[in-house]
Amino acid sequence: MIPTMIYGTAWKKQQTAALVEKALEVGFRAIDTANQPKHYHEPGVGEAVRAYLKTRPRESLFLQTKFTSVDGQDERVPYNPKAPLIDQVEQSLKSSLEHLGVDYLDSLLIHGPCGHPGLVEEDVEVWRVLESFVASGRVRSIGISNVNYLQLEELLGIARVKPTWVQNRCFAMRGWDDTVRKICREAGILYQGFSLLTANPEVVMNTGVRQVAGKRGCTAPEVVFAYARSLGILPLTGTTDETHMRQDLTPLLLSEEEIQTLGCL
Ligand SMILES: NC(=O)c1ccc[n+]([C@@H]2O[C@H](COP(=O)([O-])OP(=O)(O)OC[C@H]3O[C@@H](n4cnc5c(N)ncnc54)[C@H](OP(=O)(O)O)[C@@H]3O)[C@@H](O)[C@H]2O)c1
Repeated sequence: MIPTMIYGTAWKKQQTAALVEKALEVGFRAIDTANQPKHYHEPGVGEAVRAYLKTRPRESLFLQTKFTSVDGQDERVPYNPKAPLIDQVEQSLKSSLEHLGVDYLDSLLIHGPCGHPGLVEEDVEVWRVLESFVASGRVRSIGISNVNYLQLEELLGIARVKPTWVQNRCFAMRGWDDTVRKICREAGILYQGFSLLTANPEVVMNTGVRQVAGKRGCTAPEVVFAYARSLGILPLTGTTDETHMRQDLTPLLLSEEEIQTLGCL
């Protein structure tokens, strides 16, 4: 199942379960989280997922989480930080599956590479473990987040199981991450974009965007999501507002003319 909008669960703390429950009620069928207590409450996501799955089949839900290395964690590391790296990844997956109350994930991402600007041996090691999860059926697809074009090219060079997903913060002023998206397009990788609204306040406030919204009888954020989709970006939203949840799920299709106008802004 390839979703058209993903509900993001970062920074919701004790509200996580109630908000994910609401998002599922409103119609979201794809959920993004991470096994990173510093920013996500994965057990809270699991509470809502368990309630949903009482009456619905597992296949109706797309569940994605992330392996976050020790560097991205606070003191609440959800695996043994002293264990060898491959065991950390294994323990992280096991705990994610327990938190979410499922026996497989639709997608597991590396939260961010250890190396910069290119990959390092640890990144390859983690990728190999993710590949083994796909082979064992515990994870349906794998990918990487917060990745630059160099790291992605290197990953494609070593991958035995190709990444299905890239998940990146998307700045309009950087061509909506065009260098990474170009590699994704050529390699058949699906690109998930986050912070589409918060990273681009100048776009949300833009007169041209507001004019399109006015003509369509919708809001500027809906136009931004629609424009992102026209570029092949699969958007994430972490809205906490029920009206915004409904708006963000609405599949607004822009005309070619509107896309061209917005592309020139
Ligand atoms: N891989 C990574 O490192 C990483 C990093 C950051 C985020 N993420 C993922 O991406 C998800 C989304 O994060 P984000 O950075 O895009 O920010 P976000 O948490 O989605 O925040 C979006 C902001 O836009 C507002 N908003 C959303 N829909 C709106 C609408 N229709 N009209 C008006 N305002 C609207 C929200 O306010 P309201 O609540 O009032 O609607 C909120 O203030 C996260 O939850 C997480 O799952 C991943």
